[in-house]
Amino acid sequence: MKIGIVGCGNMGMAFANSFIQYNLVQKENLLLVEKSTERGAVLQDQKAGVVVDTISEKLGAVDLIILSVKPQDYPAAAQDLRTFIQPQQLVLSIMAGIPIAKIQESLGHPLVIRAMPNTPALLGMGMTAFAAAAEVGLSDIRKVENLINSTGRAVFLEEEGLLDAVTGLSGSGPAYFFYLIQQMIEAGIQMGFDPAMSALLVKQTMLGSYHLMQTSDKSLDELIQAVASKGGTTEAALKTFGELGVGTGLQEGIFAAQKRAKELAG
Ligand SMILES: NC(=O)c1ccc[n+]([C@@H]2O[C@H](COP(=O)([O-])OP(=O)(O)OC[C@H]3O[C@@H](n4cnc5c(N)ncnc54)[C@H](OP(=O)(O)O)[C@@H]3O)[C@@H](O)[C@H]2O)c1
Repeated sequence: MKIGIVGCGNMGMAFANSFIQYNLVQKENLLLVEKSTERGAVLQDQKAGVVVDTISEKLGAVDLIILSVKPQDYPAAAQDLRTFIQPQQLVLSIMAGIPIAKIQESLGHPLVIRAMPNTPALLGMGMTAFAAAAEVGLSDIRKVENLINSTGRAVFLEEEGLLDAVTGLSGSGPAYFFYLIQQMIEAGIQMGFDPAMSALLVKQTMLGSYHLMQTSDKSLDELIQAVASKGGTTEAALKTFGELGVGTGLQEGIFAAQKRAKELAG
């Protein structure tokens, strides 16, 4: 398979590197289109693939074109790409907020898949949901699913509209997790720990708790109850969270992210 990546920043290269790692593409068949000369030079030094600085007829020779420029850079990229795209080529967009119909229209091309990854894809631990245009066949959907699985987990959505919810939940999710950890570390500092000690206490707690959750057959409620004994310390914390609306605040934040994703989609 030959793959072209338009926009080789963090996300584009997270995908490219996973494909290489799992032998899903050979470097000589990986065309990296990167506008930034500095970034292009780094990719060249790393021998990450065949690096070029502009969209050209070379892109017409790949099987799959991955669009990973920033959404605001897309109109200019689409104008160039329109000239070279071939009818049989499959397009995979990982750009936030640009609907399949808009990509189809701007490229004059029906075969479009849209995915929403998240940053743990950099480690091969990403969570990506994707949806496909009605014109895309099952075998192409499977091909893309296999590729995305090399970056972490992939889920196929029948309904493209759910991608806004995915953006709010797993796309932005890593930031919520880091925010939560940041608040806990800050509380530790306020209680007298130095920042490094507080960070150690919090990060190891989150790591251990994640694995406990994944290996236990208890529900989240039961896991919470196992820590929160009646009249105890955890109960005091949970009561305060409830009074301050921490849970609903978190949910409202996620809904706000979903709403923003919808607005950006236009
Ligand atoms: N970061 C996330 O958590 C996340 C999650 C889900 C989806 N995404 C999506 O992933 C996409 C990429 O994000 P990113 O964080 O990887 O961005 P990024 O680091 O800015 O990478 C984009 C790269 O594309 C280059 N570029 C711009 N126009 C180009 C063109 N016409 N041809 C070739 N290269 C071009 C940029 O160069 P210049 O710097 O010179 O402009 C930049 O190096 C975005 O659309 C974003 O919505 C990101």
